[in-house]
Amino acid sequence: MEFMKVGKVSEIKEGSMKKYYINGKEILISNIGGKYYAINNKCTHRNGDLSSGKLEGSVVTCPKHGSKFDVTTGKLISGPKIPLIKLKINDEEKYEVRLEGEYILVKV
Ligand code: FES
Repeated sequence: MEFMKVGKVSEIKEGSMKKYYINGKEILISNIGGKYYAINNKCTHRNGDLSSGKLEGSVVTCPKHGSKFDVTTGKLISGPKIPLIKLKINDEEKYEVRLEGEYILVKV
């Protein structure tokens, strides 16, 4: 694994997130309080696109069935909201982030 350039700092405003494709992976990069974080973008339940979910504080809600993940750690906060079914799903993979000038680099 090595650090690779994924995008520019200016592309992700504070309190927002964006999806990037790198090394065959979908990575979700978020700017929380001026710090950048990277986790896997596909929901561990059924591959929902987290980048089109809702970001509140550091918690993203999957647009498909409502699972919640902390974008700063990748940890699952709560599983899918499917009536009568209680599912335990996995955390999201987290990636190291480094800034180099105006660029965001992620270790993938
Ligand atoms: S795909 Fe994300 S909660 Fe089901």
